[in-house]
Amino acid sequence: MNIAEKILSSHIVEGDMVKGHEIAIKIDQTLTQDSTGTMAYLQLEALGIDRVKTELSVAYVDHNMLQEGFENADDHKFIQTIAAKYGIYFSRPGNGICHQVHLERFGKPGKTLLGSDSHTPTGGGLGMLAIGAGGLDVALAMAGEPYRIIMPEIVNVRLTGKLRSWVSAKDIILELLRRLTVKGGVGKIFEYSGEGVTTLSVPERATIANMGAELGATTSIFPSDIRTYEFLKAQKREEDFEALTADNDAQYDDIIEINLDELEPMVALPHSPDNVKKVKDVGKIKVDQVAIGSCTNSSYADLMKVASILKGGLVAENVSLVISPGSRQVLNMLAENGALADLIAAGARILENACGPCIGMGQAPATNAVSLRTFNRNFYGRCGTKTASVYLVSPEVAAASALSGYLIDPREIGDAPVIAVPDRFKVNDNMIIKPPSVDKKEEITVVRGPNIKPFPLNKPLSDIQKRVLIKVGDDITTDHIMPSNAKLLPLRSNIPELSKHCFETIDADFSKRAMEWEGGIIVGGNNYGQGSSREHAALAPLQLSVKAVITKSFARIHKANLINSGILPLTFVSSDDYDNIDQGDLLTIENAVEQVKKGGTITIKNETKNTTFEVNLDVSDRNREILLAGGLINFVKNK
Ligand code: F3S
Repeated sequence: MNIAEKILSSHIVEGDMVKGHEIAIKIDQTLTQDSTGTMAYLQLEALGIDRVKTELSVAYVDHNMLQEGFENADDHKFIQTIAAKYGIYFSRPGNGICHQVHLERFGKPGKTLLGSDSHTPTGGGLGMLAIGAGGLDVALAMAGEPYRIIMPEIVNVRLTGKLRSWVSAKDIILELLRRLTVKGGVGKIFEYSGEGVTTLSVPERATIANMGAELGATTSIFPSDIRTYEFLKAQKREEDFEALTADNDAQYDDIIEINLDELEPMVALPHSPDNVKKVKDVGKIKVDQVAIGSCTNSSYADLMKVASILKGGLVAENVSLVISPGSRQVLNMLAENGALADLIAAGARILENACGPCIGMGQAPATNAVSLRTFNRNFYGRCGTKTASVYLVSPEVAAASALSGYLIDPREIGDAPVIAVPDRFKVNDNMIIKPPSVDKKEEITVVRGPNIKPFPLNKPLSDIQKRVLIKVGDDITTDHIMPSNAKLLPLRSNIPELSKHCFETIDADFSKRAMEWEGGIIVGGNNYGQGSSREHAALAPLQLSVKAVITKSFARIHKANLINSGILPLTFVSSDDYDNIDQGDLLTIENAVEQVKKGGTITIKNETKNTTFEVNLDVSDRNREILLAGGLINFVKNK
């Protein structure tokens, strides 16, 4: 067996490991962040259990740290108190970004991890089977329900050779994105092997696994080997080590080879992570902002490289350089060894240990600005400035460019820094609150501010006759459907208010129209719902009584979130039919219950155009039942 099969087979509780078949797996660990976590815990509450059933669950606070109003602080209090009540560890605001801290302090090779954040696969760097899912799936996993996925293809990425100086792990994943595009990983697990793997540290592997999410992959996984042992030992967690490698005769569905010797510094141009070129081929672009950090590139070694490049220099006059360390552990170590002083002396602006600019939480670039970021996403508008152009690069390229004022290939500036990673990291878990024992549960009062509103519930499926509220094109992201910015993030536990902003970057009148028309149907192109795992991109349409979304194809997590909300995810049998629908058309799905029950295609009548067309409902039998019940919470409650 390969590594993914080994973990799946030891966790499978239903189904067979046959590609394309649904399997249910036991989840060992969960993580949430504050943006999705508040809702996940409201859902956990709605499920009516006493205490989490996982081996370990952790609630992180890393997304919304600006606290301009009471809302975020209220959410943090709610998460902290409900975590205590249900037996969940709470990583306090300021302790770091969920994926970085989880890698450092909690992840274990061979375990399954389900997280309500699309970059949960970062844990694959440690040999975990780590999957991003909607908040409700995570709530169910905490309640002891298995997680269901369609058995993915397992693709072997063979790394040969060794990275040359100035070339980094970020360039490996950018190269893969260049080759495969943001759709190239859908329905796949990428399993890394080869001599090149042994040259990569766990944080470097985590950078690659992190951006496997940008390929659309189910997850990515690395072996657990001597490098994994070294990392865990440095974190004083050697007892968590377990060796995990593929058998010599392991089979894969596909093989991709990357020769690390041949890679060069890469850059993803605006506005997609797969728009990748060699830095040297892009030409000198004047830079206005450089942002270093995020769950992709904010490890100790990443920031030490940056500090070493900047040491003794000064950030160019035209550049604002902001740095958000991945964790308090990283910041603490930089503070103690003097690297923080080097960064400050060079003119870097040090932000909190949090997601920060990655989620548009402060540091929106200037109008028409060029922003170089070590992050994982550069979708249009995500940085908070619609006219800005965001380029994704490695920490090396970011730091060298910050000094130069232009996007430059760092090989132009001399020798690359050599960073010695210490044998021991500075371990200090005093900002992680352990949940009290179960007998103290009754003493805990869950604190609910006025911004925490009940979870919206759908009704059981019935016949549908609704108008097309909006027709959108290909590659619509969850950021388009439900924007996430400093103004909106505080509303994540207040869906009625949040839904007023649904699709607002595409069509400012969308939610008003949805309310006037008492709901409706959304029509989309290919890869609808790509990007973040944001469950709110399904909950806002649910709140607005959207009954179905008809597209050419869906991104996996968003499709699952629609099903969980009881919204039909339908795909055109013939993509020509997409061309024959317009906004405002009245569509009818007669005998919807019978049509959904029987499976196969569903017939839709376009009353406005007086035509009919066929759509697929490509879901499992269980998902049909969930859709009939009007969503997953209704389904589980009915059980
Ligand atoms: Fe946070 Fe950005 Fe990662 S929002 S979890 S740093 S993708």
